[in-house]
Amino acid sequence: MQGRTCNSYLYICKGRPGGIKTFKILRKKELAQGIKSFEIHAPFIARKNQPGQFVVLRIDEKGERIPLTISKSNPEEVTITVVFQEVGKTTRQLGMLREGDEVLDLVGPLGRPSEIEKFGTVVIVGGGVGTAEAYPEACALKKAGNKIITIIGARSKDLLILEKEMGEVSDEIYIATDDGSKGHHGFVTDILVRLIEAHVKIDRVVAIGPTAMMRRVADITRPHQIKTIVSLNPIMLDATGMCGVCRVVVGGETKFACSDGPAFDAHLVDFNLLTARQRIYLEEEKSSLQKLDKRGQNLR
Ligand code: FAD
Ligand code: FES
Ligand code: MG
Repeated sequence: MQGRTCNSYLYICKGRPGGIKTFKILRKKELAQGIKSFEIHAPFIARKNQPGQFVVLRIDEKGERIPLTISKSNPEEVTITVVFQEVGKTTRQLGMLREGDEVLDLVGPLGRPSEIEKFGTVVIVGGGVGTAEAYPEACALKKAGNKIITIIGARSKDLLILEKEMGEVSDEIYIATDDGSKGHHGFVTDILVRLIEAHVKIDRVVAIGPTAMMRRVADITRPHQIKTIVSLNPIMLDATGMCGVCRVVVGGETKFACSDGPAFDAHLVDFNLLTARQRIYLEEEKSSLQKLDKRGQNLR
């Protein structure tokens, strides 16, 4: 099928007019163990993308659809970069692809772009692979004239990503590792507490990472009434607001994270519901990963 623009912002079809095959992986990097980045040829998405938006990717016809944040877009080179952690079957299969391989389809850019304005001092909190998702926000907020204080963390120093890139767009950067192998021995949230206790003027916090981390950030900033934005990561399917799978409750109202978000006011999010819904398919996810591992062993 020849490619076409399927509506004003979606580009989902393999192939483009002119016959150029698209969604080719042009560059692959391993940023840390189990965390990879792909620079993918995706002209339309690269031109349209704004910070905070994401794509839905499908590897092949039998593949499931997974959302990944656009960590970087390069309209001149017509590429986007996604960074993903191999946590289950699809991300593991994705990680096996090589430079020159293609993914079947990419839908995007999806989601509402983040609010980018001059707020004053913005603290960016990135946990694990969430650092890659926070990176475009940090760049855009810096460009808008904000002072950027970044806190990034991981389980250990080998799992820290984009430290250099984040450092370049930040006025101050703090590192935390759970095992103390680099920076503060503990959590990113400990550093946030310290900043607040030191009366650092904070106008906004943007936190992206594991749900437990985002919830803790919300709990820390709520009593101080510091506006806090989190990027929610419920299970998504169509990612266009049609199926309802990504339903979350924010301020007592049902929202679809794919079309109303993924960014929301952290102080209004029902994190209990989000956590429960993220775990709905744990058994199925476990068994499909086991099947993939078994297939791999049989091939050896
Ligand atoms: P599975 O074993 O199938 O799932 C592992 C866990 O991932 C599940 O328990 C569930 O909580 C979550 N998950 C599974 N399927 C989906 C799905 N279809 N949609 C959302 N979550 C799912 N991860 C990154 O590494 N980098 C990113 O930039 C990134 N951006 C995201 C942006 C958004 C808007 C959302 C909603 C999620 C994002 N994720 C990102 C999470 C990523 O989509 C999941 O890690 C991935 O879908 C897991 O698939 P799997 O088959 O490898 O693992
Ligand atoms: Fe279907 Fe959001 S993923 S409504
Ligand atoms: Mg899966």
